[in-house]
Amino acid sequence: MSTAPRHEIEIVDLKVAFKKFLALKGVSFYAGKKEFLGVVGSSGAGKTTVLRVLTGQISPTGGKAFVGGYDVTKKRKLISLLVGYVPQLEHLSLYYEFSALQNAQFFGRCFGMRPKEIEERARSILTILGFDEDLMTKKVERLSGGERKRVSICLGMVHNPPVLLLDEPTTGLDAHLRHETLNYLKMLNHELGTTMVIISHDLEVVDYCTRVCLLEEGQVSQFGTPAELISTLPGKGESIRLVLSRMSSAVLDKVVTLKSVKYWAKAGRNAVKLFVDEPREQMLAIIKSLNEMKIPFEEISLVEADFFDYFQVKPWKSKTEGDSQS
Ligand SMILES: Nc1ncnc2c1ncn2[C@@H]1O[C@H](COP(=O)(O)OP(=O)(O)OP(=O)(O)O)[C@@H](O)[C@H]1O
Ligand SMILES: [Mg+2]
Repeated sequence: MSTAPRHEIEIVDLKVAFKKFLALKGVSFYAGKKEFLGVVGSSGAGKTTVLRVLTGQISPTGGKAFVGGYDVTKKRKLISLLVGYVPQLEHLSLYYEFSALQNAQFFGRCFGMRPKEIEERARSILTILGFDEDLMTKKVERLSGGERKRVSICLGMVHNPPVLLLDEPTTGLDAHLRHETLNYLKMLNHELGTTMVIISHDLEVVDYCTRVCLLEEGQVSQFGTPAELISTLPGKGESIRLVLSRMSSAVLDKVVTLKSVKYWAKAGRNAVKLFVDEPREQMLAIIKSLNEMKIPFEEISLVEADFFDYFQVKPWKSKTEGDSQS
């Protein structure tokens, strides 16, 4: 079978072993040009290992990885031009005693760029990233955490790569800065057309993604657009939100064991989201059952399901696992 790559990034049955330990057990996914792909998974799932293969830092034990149609193991030099990399810990890439623009000069020179070219490129990226003259010329040690992240993003892009790989660019930032950083990345993606692969264990990244790859213990458990994944839930993206007058485990137990309820998720204080087939049609029957069981409730409404629900409910696991929500 031919494995000619059709996408900007294509990973086919990738395996990576560290001695006897198989960190990646046959991972396949892809990202088209200009996509914003999120690779989500818990610690140790193999996320950084995938990026290390894509940047040519390690060779896979099996399978293939392509960027721009080129095999990453065969075209190392070219791949370093095609791929920008923002590492998990930005202090590994930044010179703190120099400014953002000076840091860019160091990086750009590694790619054989001329000083003037680097200056222009860095200024245009930093401008999209919300930097003014003062921030561009201030020592990195005097910048805030969020600003430092943005400098490290700029360094990853200074040589104008069509693909940017980011390892946990939002880790360690507060919620406001996480969204700010993601918004800036989205702007770069939009204005410069850069294909982004962003690793995270923060689920909020999914709101920004065109496609999501969920890694679990070295395997892809889910891959698709956020809407595709959510539509696999009963209700196909719609759920019933129920606010109870009083929440107790006995009451909750009665509600979630109603016959039509396939899954449920917590939805705030005293509230649950119920996932049923045909939620519009089921709503009346559920109200009737609640009344019969004399369970008082304050509100019941049809709401959209989101990725947080999808992740709580884990419909890709077996029914028993997906149901054992504590
Ligand atoms: N050089 C190495 N030698 C041995 N084992 C390694 C090596 N690098 C990674 N591993 C193991 O491979 C697994 C995947 O590691 P990886 O760094 O890809 O995880 P991750 O998903 O990025 O986790 P995190 O969210 O904590 O960064 C882990 O169990 C890790 O201990
Ligand atoms: Mg990692």
